[in-house]
Amino acid sequence: ADLSPKQIDRVLTHARYLKQVSMPWLLPQQHNSNNKLRMPSQSLFSKSIALLFSKRSTRTRVAAETAATLLGGRALFLGREDIQLGVNESTRDSARVIGGMCQGIFARVGAHEEIEELANYSPVPVLNALSSLWHPTQVLADLLTLQENAHLFDPSVEPLVSDPHQFASAKQFYPLPKLRPLTVAYVGDSANVLHDMLVSFPRLGHKLRVASPEDEKYRAPKAVWDRVVELGCDKDIWWGKDPKEAVNGADLVVTDTWISMGQEAEKAERLKAFEGYQVTEALCREGGANPEWRFMHCLPRKQDEVDDEVFYGPRSLVFPVSDNRKWTIMALFEPRAPPRTTTMSDGEV
Ligand code: CP
Ligand code: NVA
Repeated sequence: ADLSPKQIDRVLTHARYLKQVSMPWLLPQQHNSNNKLRMPSQSLFSKSIALLFSKRSTRTRVAAETAATLLGGRALFLGREDIQLGVNESTRDSARVIGGMCQGIFARVGAHEEIEELANYSPVPVLNALSSLWHPTQVLADLLTLQENAHLFDPSVEPLVSDPHQFASAKQFYPLPKLRPLTVAYVGDSANVLHDMLVSFPRLGHKLRVASPEDEKYRAPKAVWDRVVELGCDKDIWWGKDPKEAVNGADLVVTDTWISMGQEAEKAERLKAFEGYQVTEALCREGGANPEWRFMHCLPRKQDEVDDEVFYGPRSLVFPVSDNRKWTIMALFEPRAPPRTTTMSDGEV
């Protein structure tokens, strides 16, 4: 919500550039066609980013740690059990102390107010790695993946190079294709990932159709909806309780766990509330989704919200999205503006 569509576009282009420039490091021979090493700029050299995580994480943590390393810096993982925060020290004091030694803080917190307090008192930038209300870095990876796969939604779009060797050794930067406006259905709980979709997708030209149970606790909280309205996104959002109605005309179907971190005690109640909300082939066929619909999920996934046929099937973009967590987070970490050139530069070790 804090980024304009233009700024989102810059982050995505930057992420795509970093992905292409970094690929030689991920290939066995680590060389490009001219037999020269190519590496991303070492813009985090001698810099540290604190990963202040009070909740579990696989993707966000691994993305952040590997991204910081590729940029020549260091990510310092500070889990709940490791530091004084919350037991012997206040958020305010921890923010000042950690910010006095690191150049950035990437924080995964419980209540959203915790990250606001961190940002208020930290002398260095604070990035949200997930809070009760928002999960902005997830949605950047979703958007990058959709743009990279624009050809799946529009036959007139040329597919991007997918062979990793060709991709890594290219002298030219493969820019992101234009994505046509999509109808995106979200079936499930109104949680952090959906909330970031609500404030970004409509501003990028996409329509959202959401289905969640009628009870207020499964609908967007006031703080989120106020932001949606403030950004003028509400006019492109349809919200009902019928999953079949939500997937009508959908090019993309998205869901998330019904039991977010911290809601484990509500498991039985939530499984009951979301009966009939599982994403399946039958649901999307009967609801009248675009026959070519694709599927996304932020992960970690349980079978309740989506069955194996969809999750592991050809419609699924879930693993390309999880790969893209790294490049999008890396783009946020890089202090310099994204390159404007279309030529890939060779670096030296
Ligand atoms: N999608 C996501 O944020 O995953 P993790 O909780 O594993 O970081
Ligand atoms: N809504 C989920 C997202 C996990 C990445 C949660 O908060 O647990």
